[in-house]
Amino acid sequence: MLASLTSPLPALMAFSWPPEAYLWFKTLHIVGVVVWFAGLFYLVRLFIYHREAEELEPALKTAFQDQYALMERRLANIITTPGMVVAVVCAAGLLSVNPAWLKQGWMHAKLAFVAALLAYHWFCYRVMGQLQKGSCTWSPKRLRALNELPTLLLVIVVMLVVFKNQFPTGAATWFIVALVVFMAASIQFYARWRRLRAERLAAEAAAG
Ligand code: HEM
Repeated sequence: MLASLTSPLPALMAFSWPPEAYLWFKTLHIVGVVVWFAGLFYLVRLFIYHREAEELEPALKTAFQDQYALMERRLANIITTPGMVVAVVCAAGLLSVNPAWLKQGWMHAKLAFVAALLAYHWFCYRVMGQLQKGSCTWSPKRLRALNELPTLLLVIVVMLVVFKNQFPTGAATWFIVALVVFMAASIQFYARWRRLRAERLAAEAAAG
């Protein structure tokens, strides 16, 4: 009797979530995921602009790179990381309301891909730190290729959460994979075409 009055444990064990808690966690989880990904996609785009500014004349280069550095820090700390925290905290809420998900294969696969995404998030912070110190060696081309990774992880994780243990391996899946590869390749080709055109125009202008 005395133990149940002094220890909070029985009260905690008796705690049960209100019926709508699961749907609230899911709503906020999805909102967090959207914000997190918007931040991740734009952050690496800013890294590309930051590196491309190397080509500018010294005064412009400093002004542009300082501005990109500020935008990167604000985007990472005010949008991307808070989005990640909301997504992960609400995911923990979903699992605490329904711990049975943790026994399912699709959830184990999802957690493995989310771990890769968290590693990517950490890696972006590392590149951002190098850019701020002026010691980043990643070329714009490599950064553009890197920016395809979260797209791939997004497609896989969303497919896992929608199809769960019936993950499809048929024609539709291969069509989606081909579409993602095609989009990634188009972005790389377009960037290359733009760079070659800028070089040609500069050469023509120099030749008078
Ligand atoms: C921190 C790790 C994560 C855990 C433990 C987790 C867990 C969950 C759980 C338990 C659900 C509810 C499933 C259902 O009710 O059918 C869910 C829904 C969802 N999750 Fe996650 N999640 C995580 C990260 C992510 C990430 C990184 C993404 C996006 C790439 C994502 C996208 C979604 C989507 C779109 C839904 C809604 C699916 C639906 O209602 O059909 N989750 N998540």
